[in-house]
Amino acid sequence: MESGLRCDFPILARTLYNKYPLVYLDNAATTQKPRMVVEAMRNEYYNVNANVHRGVHFLSQQATDLQEAGRETVRRFLNARSTSEIIFTRGTTESINLVASSFGQAFMHEGDEVIVSEMEHHSNIVPWQLLRERLGIGLRVIPITDDGHLQMEAYEQLFTEHTRLVSVTHVSNVLGTINPVQDIIRIAHAHGVPVLIDGAQSAPHMTVDVQAMDCDFFAFSGHKIYGPTGIGVLYGKENWLEQMPPYMGGGEMIKSVSFDRTTFNDLPYKFEAGTPDYVAVTGLAKALDYVTALGMDRIRDYEHELTQYALQRLGEIPGMRIFGPRQEREAVISFLVGHIHHLDMGTLLDRLGIAVRTGHHCAEPLMHRLGIEGTVRASFSFYNTREEVDALVDGIFRVMKMF
Ligand SMILES: Cc1ncc(COP(=O)(O)O)c(C=O)c1O
Repeated sequence: MESGLRCDFPILARTLYNKYPLVYLDNAATTQKPRMVVEAMRNEYYNVNANVHRGVHFLSQQATDLQEAGRETVRRFLNARSTSEIIFTRGTTESINLVASSFGQAFMHEGDEVIVSEMEHHSNIVPWQLLRERLGIGLRVIPITDDGHLQMEAYEQLFTEHTRLVSVTHVSNVLGTINPVQDIIRIAHAHGVPVLIDGAQSAPHMTVDVQAMDCDFFAFSGHKIYGPTGIGVLYGKENWLEQMPPYMGGGEMIKSVSFDRTTFNDLPYKFEAGTPDYVAVTGLAKALDYVTALGMDRIRDYEHELTQYALQRLGEIPGMRIFGPRQEREAVISFLVGHIHHLDMGTLLDRLGIAVRTGHHCAEPLMHRLGIEGTVRASFSFYNTREEVDALVDGIFRVMKMF
């Protein structure tokens, strides 16, 4: 990518421990924010701020227009059919909880089943377990192969007459596996079962077209796609959303309220109780405009090439164990080196200015499947460079010398 692009991200110019230039390789946890995102939010607070959808006054109208323009930007980004299908949430976690709670209430009963996979983030496991406690539903789990792919034949065997929903991640936040979501959805639909796609790790890295994918729900987080924290999106097909009860009650999600009876607002507002984080919506929209202008296909190609380079360089390290697929994978590499504990490796790399994540990455069942406690994880963005990959490899060699 263009070298000047890093200047859009002031934090990338930081030096750590008075010595080391920051090498930020924790993008799967959260991405850094370009100036224009922060500036747009600052501008809104300084010049526009007012509560949305409530006031007749100028500022309130302007803030509402910004929020709704942001919704249209998200619609375009996902190629959803209508802005009624775009619900703002606090992030992927809340989006999945919303579906679990609301879809669960509308369509699930004791004995019904949800299919998830062995590589899910906790946020796509625990909401279903909470529903299991509430309704007595069952959870069925798609197993993975040793190299981190879903076992598609086993998946097909999991369907029963009780299956009500499939909820799987598009991209694994640990293995980088890109799941064949189109096949997953086609098979589920052949059984008359809708599908939720956890897009937390895919939306930042590839073109997402929810109509072409034909998913029923799609969730992603703003902060993982260069936007602010505290804002995320749930896309849902109108047909499902219409039939689902509200997730939370409060202001904005109602048409009329009396002590006897309350009627609910139209989509998408039915699912947006209370004052939304409208400033974060503006930030998210700016971030989506930013990556769209760069080109999602260019981002994917660049990150793919960088990840392949990283796989090759890391492969030169004796005792290196890399988890997940070799070829078709997203910009995430989880690894262990010899007997060095992941926490030691992460802590010592940090002392060299290199930010990686360590631990179970909110995917404990996957760690159990792999027979490990945790990994070191390097995850890349379009603003990372080959020099940073080299710095990581040099850093690992330096750490190895200490053991
Ligand atoms: C695959 C996946 N799903 C869900 C989440 C949860 O995202 P958030 O914490 O932004 O709600 C993450 C975050 O790491 C993730 O990687």
